[in-house]
Amino acid sequence: MSSTQVRTSFALGEHTVQRLGYGAMQLAGPGVFGPPKDRVAALAVLRAAVESGVDHIDTSDFYGPHVTNQLIREALAPYAKELVIVTKVGARRDDKGGWLPAFSAQELAQAVHDNLRNLGLDVLEVVNLRAMFDTQGPAEGSIEAPLTALAELQRQGLVRHIGLSNVTSAQVAQGRAICRIACVQNQYNLVHRHDDALIDQLARDGIPYVPFFPLGGFTPLQSSALSGIAERLGATPMQVALAWLLRRSPNILLIPGTSSVDHLRENLAAGTLDLPAEAMAALDGVAASKATDR
Ligand SMILES: NC(=O)c1ccc[n+]([C@@H]2O[C@H](COP(=O)([O-])OP(=O)(O)OC[C@H]3O[C@@H](n4cnc5c(N)ncnc54)[C@H](OP(=O)(O)O)[C@@H]3O)[C@@H](O)[C@H]2O)c1
Repeated sequence: MSSTQVRTSFALGEHTVQRLGYGAMQLAGPGVFGPPKDRVAALAVLRAAVESGVDHIDTSDFYGPHVTNQLIREALAPYAKELVIVTKVGARRDDKGGWLPAFSAQELAQAVHDNLRNLGLDVLEVVNLRAMFDTQGPAEGSIEAPLTALAELQRQGLVRHIGLSNVTSAQVAQGRAICRIACVQNQYNLVHRHDDALIDQLARDGIPYVPFFPLGGFTPLQSSALSGIAERLGATPMQVALAWLLRRSPNILLIPGTSSVDHLRENLAAGTLDLPAEAMAALDGVAASKATDR
């Protein structure tokens, strides 16, 4: 498939957003805790993203905590009307930066109000309920009570659309029986492909799938096949990894994270990278060769 055949936008809630967005988690301090080491640089990344056409930013008030949302507000408010800020609730931080579940109705309401205050908004466009049955990855457990509580906050007009994060296929099905699910955000990338079937199902139903750790997250993707293809195409491995995701399924929306304007620009340029069919096939093979990860 050539780059001209790759769609550049997809519906998210009532908006149509560019498929290449930005994830703001990397703007907080080390371990996603505390302030950034360079506040001016963090603000510059956010402004450069929007100036470059990014209209979808992923965040949470538990990044920092509060830090990332406060940076977004300082850099970008008043927000452009086409900018969709997606946040998430369901976790909280302890005083050492640990990640704890925060799934009670009271904690979810508190989190929604924290997001509203720190982002400087009257309503949150999209809120993902982030499951915490296992902090490391999706694990079974009922999301009925927290999702019903979040849907009540939606009825109150504080939340426009609800999504799910770190969830199993069964939880997606359970969620869709409770309320309209606007998007699903799970870990997925070239080598971590547990969600292949879920992505295809969501694509059939027109629901965006937003992979987190698209570049490998805290363990950057490394593969000789990826590096070799990048070299042959005159691109970087990260660009090739993003270009592969754009071709994997049309409902995939990307939110690569970075604290660097140079990396931001490099990542956005992946949108125009042409990936020949043989490169796609070789990249599919990277996942197959890591079959133990599936
Ligand atoms: N729902 C969830 O549970 C969940 C979990 C994790 C993340 N998220 C969301 O997903 C977004 C993306 O995930 P992520 O930021 O953790 O991981 P990622 O996008 O896979 O990778 C980010 C890492 O890659 C580096 N990087 C980015 N662009 C690069 C480039 N062009 N060349 C070399 N290195 C590059 C970044 O370092 P530099 O800063 O040096 O560029 C950073 O260390 C987050 O920002 C967050 O919004 C959601």
